Amino acid sequence: MNADGRTRLHQTPEWTALAKHREELADTRLRELFASDPGRGTGYTLKVGDLYIDYSKHLVTDDTLRLLRELAAATDVFGLRDAMFRGERINVTEDRAVLHTALRAPRDAVIEVDGENVVPKVHAVLDKMAGFADRVRSGAWTGYTGKRIRNVINVGIGGSDLGPAMAYEVLRTFTDRDLTVRFVSNVDGADLHEATRDLDPAETLFIIASKTFTTIETITNATSARQWLLAALGDDAAVAKHFVALSTNAGKVADFGIDTDNMFEFWDWVGGRYSYDSAIGLSLMIAIGPDRFREMLDGFHLMDEHFRTAPAEANAPLLLGLLGIWYGNFHDAQSHAVLPYSHYLSKFTAYLQQLDMESNGKYVARDGRQVDWQTGPVVWGTPGTNGQHAYYQLIHQGTKLIPADFIGFARPVGELSEELKAQHDLLMANFFAQTQALAFGKTAEEVRAEGVPEELVPHKTFQGDRPTTTILARALTPSVLGQLIALYEHKVFVQGAVWNIDSFDQWGVELGKVLAKRVEPALTEGADVPGLDASTKALVATYRELRGR
Ligand code: F6P
Repeated sequence: MNADGRTRLHQTPEWTALAKHREELADTRLRELFASDPGRGTGYTLKVGDLYIDYSKHLVTDDTLRLLRELAAATDVFGLRDAMFRGERINVTEDRAVLHTALRAPRDAVIEVDGENVVPKVHAVLDKMAGFADRVRSGAWTGYTGKRIRNVINVGIGGSDLGPAMAYEVLRTFTDRDLTVRFVSNVDGADLHEATRDLDPAETLFIIASKTFTTIETITNATSARQWLLAALGDDAAVAKHFVALSTNAGKVADFGIDTDNMFEFWDWVGGRYSYDSAIGLSLMIAIGPDRFREMLDGFHLMDEHFRTAPAEANAPLLLGLLGIWYGNFHDAQSHAVLPYSHYLSKFTAYLQQLDMESNGKYVARDGRQVDWQTGPVVWGTPGTNGQHAYYQLIHQGTKLIPADFIGFARPVGELSEELKAQHDLLMANFFAQTQALAFGKTAEEVRAEGVPEELVPHKTFQGDRPTTTILARALTPSVLGQLIALYEHKVFVQGAVWNIDSFDQWGVELGKVLAKRVEPALTEGADVPGLDASTKALVATYRELRGR
């Protein structure tokens, strides 16, 4: 029993029932499941908004799904969901509400935190962002010398970078192509150098994005960006026309020298990795325009409402979350691949890595005790078809079980020529071929029937039973992007709720930050930093020698 009155997860009858069921299913093959149920290909699907979700190629039966839903009920996933939507402080270790869903709530919604309706504040900031974005896009907002802004550089890291950087790529076909929009995150000076080297400072707007406004990478890059600007424009007054801030911390923004009139606010109930639909999305809004940004928010909201109201049997985030638990906890799968068949989704999986791994990469439960069960998977993947020629071999014939999400679209987007549009069918033919091959493989008999020499038969045989989810939509629009991101946000939520971990803190990144600050003087000044271990000491000495110090 837990301190919070919950039975330890792995000791619940629902968990034990799943473990037993897993043993019973050990020899079940996807080929058999499909053969015994001709309706499986359409029956094991969900339609939510614009998304068609096919989960038929999973190693599950109706019983598996029922037992998983029973686990969700026993762990009160929907109770925690309702508490989140009500604005309760479900981020227990930081004592905060978790209300990214309020960022996309309609204007007339009422969502209270400590008795205050936060929806008017959300829309006031969205309106301020829209006004600013329109002025930049129209040329009404000019730089210090009166030149039009042609370049926008977002400086931020983690949740203050990955979301807008990903969404900018995803929605590139909706962007103003006359604007250059770049994202600087790495404290490696090469990042800022490459982003600015061919730009005119008089035409460049920096958006400094940091929830805390204390993150060392961002403040260091922002300081260097200011120096770059002032070296060209020569007057501190230029900062007001070339720097805006996105933050929850007005005091630190003012300390940095940015006028708080040029600050776009968000709140402590927005987690960094859940923030790109807040003010953190300003660079994206400038790129695609306020109307498209609002379409994206509507897509998020659609999925929020689905998650909030759909019954367990038809609840897509619940289903995807539970399937992940099925593989991670009952099949020993260590990782989860997200494989989008869209060039525009090139940064999608990198974004999901923070969303999932920073949320659920935890070995301490909400009650402070160590878990006795696996938690978040390693999330990885890149767009198909490129991945097919790199690592799919291991997914098909390796020794590890890697469940995967395949995301694809029926229509290409953008201004492609007819010839390039025609390539889309080949892209999607690969998509369908891969999920088919992964699920059903190729038997030794099938290989032999092709006349393959006996010694090569084992090499050319595919076991199959590699599980995949297919997510299909007509086209990649702002709304579809919002639907997809909210789907994954809530999937991660479901898993954290079942595992009884706090998905909204991130203490695990703190130690490295503290140690970096401590080690830096050893590198720069050769300072004798107390407490350095023998390995790090020797490495620092070697580094200084190689650095020529
Ligand atoms: O990596 C830790 C982290 O706190 C993330 O959660 C966050 O998204 C990132 O750093 C950036 O933080 P900030 O927006 O405060 O600069």
